[in-house]
Amino acid sequence: MKHGKFITFEGGEGAGKTTQAKRLCTALEAQGIETLLTREPGGTFGAEAIRDLVLSGIDDRWSGMTELLLMYAARVDHVEKLIKPALERGVWVVSDRFSDSTVAYQGYARGVDLKNINSVHDAVMGGFGPDVTFLFDIDPVLALKRVETRGEELSRFDKEALDFHKTIRAAFQSIAEGDPERFVMLDAAASRDEIFGAIKSGMLDKFSGLNL
Ligand code: TMP
Repeated sequence: MKHGKFITFEGGEGAGKTTQAKRLCTALEAQGIETLLTREPGGTFGAEAIRDLVLSGIDDRWSGMTELLLMYAARVDHVEKLIKPALERGVWVVSDRFSDSTVAYQGYARGVDLKNINSVHDAVMGGFGPDVTFLFDIDPVLALKRVETRGEELSRFDKEALDFHKTIRAAFQSIAEGDPERFVMLDAAASRDEIFGAIKSGMLDKFSGLNL
């Protein structure tokens, strides 16, 4: 039985999700709500090992289908060992990416048939999914500049051409339009405080009785 809430942050690279996810957890904790901040691919020992496999190495190391299966191998480990047990204890889980990223990256950008993605998802996740998803929408030209200035090693996805990142942006917009009940769209080019203000109001709309 799920007692906590499951919140996901989605968007392209350099959209500022990670910073805002931390800030949301801090705000929830200040209200006495226990939180768990996690990420995909990753979050557990096994899923982090799969993350290294999938994010590093040469560009065409994996086909879209192999990436899909690696993402779901990591996701099953993450959900079964970390996310579901936390939710059962009443913890609110904030995940930096979840299954919408698979639809955007492996589906829209890599060309894996969305029907196959949905079949894998249904087979291994059943009806499990987020209560609310915040979409960080930003022009990839701006976002990729942020990624470059971070000075971190670039992943196989960061290194993709601008057209790939444009496809990802359009993909997320269309996924969000298809599920307006769950998604809150954010202008990720706005200031950090403005973005956090929009996240707070999305949380208050979604969870009645919450005080942030
Ligand atoms: P990030 O955690 O720094 O955003 O890096 C994760 C990368 O993995 C990002 O480029 C998106 C990609 N990814 C997929 O391609 N499919 C997925 O299902 C997930 C969760 C991430």
